[in-house]
Amino acid sequence: MIGIFDSGVGGMTVARAIEQLLPEYPLIYYGDLARSPYGPKSPEKIREYARDNTRFLLDRGAKLIVIACNSAASVAADVIDAEFDVPVFEVIEPAVAEAVAATNSGRIGVIGTRATVKSKVYEKKITAALPGSYVFQVPCPLLVPLVEEGWLNRPETKMILRHYLHPMRSRQIDTLVLGCTHYPLLRTLIQPRIGNRVRVIDSSEALAQRLLEYLEANPILAETLRTGCENRYFASDVTDAALEIAAKIFGRAILIERI
Ligand code: DGL
Repeated sequence: MIGIFDSGVGGMTVARAIEQLLPEYPLIYYGDLARSPYGPKSPEKIREYARDNTRFLLDRGAKLIVIACNSAASVAADVIDAEFDVPVFEVIEPAVAEAVAATNSGRIGVIGTRATVKSKVYEKKITAALPGSYVFQVPCPLLVPLVEEGWLNRPETKMILRHYLHPMRSRQIDTLVLGCTHYPLLRTLIQPRIGNRVRVIDSSEALAQRLLEYLEANPILAETLRTGCENRYFASDVTDAALEIAAKIFGRAILIERI
């Protein structure tokens, strides 16, 4: 099984992309809703949670881990990779690769939670991959609660997006990375507010594509992932709002099991 974790249900955007591209591989998903959001928390706390989430997935048969949460990936991916003896994938590397391939001017914007922006992980990886590039980051802490409230098309959400994206516009970026699980759900509001010429990057499909290539190159591991089980979705808490977001992401009702 492919194990995927996130701080909540936003990471289901990644699970869905994997499900669509790799339907023959069963997924086990864990959303740490009882302890979310991770975005405002310290790197130490997020690492501790990331370890717990990884153990949960491995105990239930996952043989490969996907960190779907940008906040966790930004401060804990190296720790999880070093401490657990399974392949670890995360959302930041593919987003960086796509952004670097997409930009013409080398001026790239990144929006994410406070934890992600503070880690400077996007800045470091983008400038390493594209020396001389300019990375402009804006933390957008209000966007996660707005998405979780289902305020996907409210005037208040549009106003807050305008506020966050305004400084980006004057930096003349040509590429914008959606560095948070929840932001793909706001993509149709973000695109016109950042400008239609700016390429907006959501790494979930690129991550699924990387996974596909990896499994094609590692057929023995790939075989161990094909258990024939059903996809299962677990969370440390289950709320109506979470079920609604999950249904919105997948376009169908999702059974989330509380553990
Ligand atoms: N999953 C988080 C991320 O992608 C957003 C929600 C949170 O702050 O926990 O950064």
